[in-house]
Amino acid sequence: MDIWHVRGGNRLFGSCRVQGSKNASLPVLAASMVFPARSHIRNVPQLRDVDAAVSILSHLGCRVGREENELYIDSGFITDAEIPRELMAEMRSSVIFMGALLARCGEARLSLPGGCQLGKRPIDLHLSALHAMGAEISEEGRDIFCRAKKLHGAEIDLRFPSVGATENIMLAACAAEGRTTIRGAAREPEIVALQQYLTSLGAHIVGAGSDTVVICGASARESTDFTVPCDRIVASTLACACAAAGGRIILSGVNSDHFLTVLHFLNEAGCDIIHFNDIVEISSDGRLRSPGSIVTAPYPGFPTDAQPILMAALLRAQGTTKFTETIFENRYRQVSELRRLGADIRVRGTEAVLRGVKELHGETLTAPDLRGGAAMVVAGLTARGETRVIDAGHIARGYESFDDRLCALGAEVWIEHKGKGTDEDGNEQEKPAALQ
Ligand code: UD1
Repeated sequence: MDIWHVRGGNRLFGSCRVQGSKNASLPVLAASMVFPARSHIRNVPQLRDVDAAVSILSHLGCRVGREENELYIDSGFITDAEIPRELMAEMRSSVIFMGALLARCGEARLSLPGGCQLGKRPIDLHLSALHAMGAEISEEGRDIFCRAKKLHGAEIDLRFPSVGATENIMLAACAAEGRTTIRGAAREPEIVALQQYLTSLGAHIVGAGSDTVVICGASARESTDFTVPCDRIVASTLACACAAAGGRIILSGVNSDHFLTVLHFLNEAGCDIIHFNDIVEISSDGRLRSPGSIVTAPYPGFPTDAQPILMAALLRAQGTTKFTETIFENRYRQVSELRRLGADIRVRGTEAVLRGVKELHGETLTAPDLRGGAAMVVAGLTARGETRVIDAGHIARGYESFDDRLCALGAEVWIEHKGKGTDEDGNEQEKPAALQ
């Protein structure tokens, strides 16, 4: 259990190189076992979820070496097609190993993490697509068994552009005979990164970034060298932190196209934004106004992951901001905690109406999830006095050295480490080996 301490009131100045993307790294790590190959993967953030993916790869028989932000994976021999429950429970997105295992071993045995924090998070789209490609699937409680003597290409129409389903289909299709077409595919930058990585290993894939992705198997290569792109949600978080606290920061190593919607709303709220090449500069006097109405949507729409964070940045913005959440049922878990700082937010169904207040005051809050925890740290930067965020390891799942990065920009943030870690559902447990 960590307690984040944030003393509000400091403006942020300076520059920060943004970490590699968690949500791009995890599918790439799963993809590293699709072919027997050696991968040198750079710019991998040092995070709890990455540790969990490395533990799964090692359990399956891969040899994994690590030097700071670089991973060396040798997937020449896979010795198991089953991922034990305790490893699956470490990371919700471990479900993307299903397509990878099916491609490599012709079977996958895994379990689903329990009912989740953000909402139901079903995987029916993943399963029906893999079934259409020839996989037999059976479920027993939360255990899933997939088997396919031979996967074959299929025409798949996704009723919703699910990121996880698109990734699972791409991974399985690398081993399928014939052509797989995904219509209504997710268009997120993480899908583009996965295509780039898989093609660097010889897969034949085109279309990532558009709503139609076509995969025609692979002529596998022996090795690759791949660099994970920048984390657009971490970049958004730092931009929101500066917007709320005031100051001027320069984010480097970023692709502003990947978080344009967030920058757009910060600009509407009164921030000056300049972007060129891989740099974005944000200036704010800390006195924001409401940017109006914000609706989360699949990429290139406003990201659901940035919703709690932008909300935190706008708590003191003049006027009324309306949020509509369209991706996850349970994505306003930060609201009741932010109210304890003095925020005026009302939630009705999928809508949250935020009325800017003049002042926030420090309080002790509990982080409900990864982005909700980051939102509380951002809110704390603008609150009077000290805000304490009780965090069961959520923030470390997505942010690398977040405290150090904020301190380097002039914030007063420190972490008190206490006792045991927790799993994704907040249950206390001993830290797994990969984290010790
Ligand atoms: C989601 C985000 C992704 C983000 C990730 C991590 C979207 C569209 N996706 O990806 O950008 O990086 O969380 O926080 O914003 N659904 C089904 N059946 C399925 C799969 C999904 O109905 O088989 C529905 C869910 O109920 C939910 C939505 O699709 O409403 C979730 O989208 P999906 O993209 O699958 O979620 P993640 O892959 O977790």
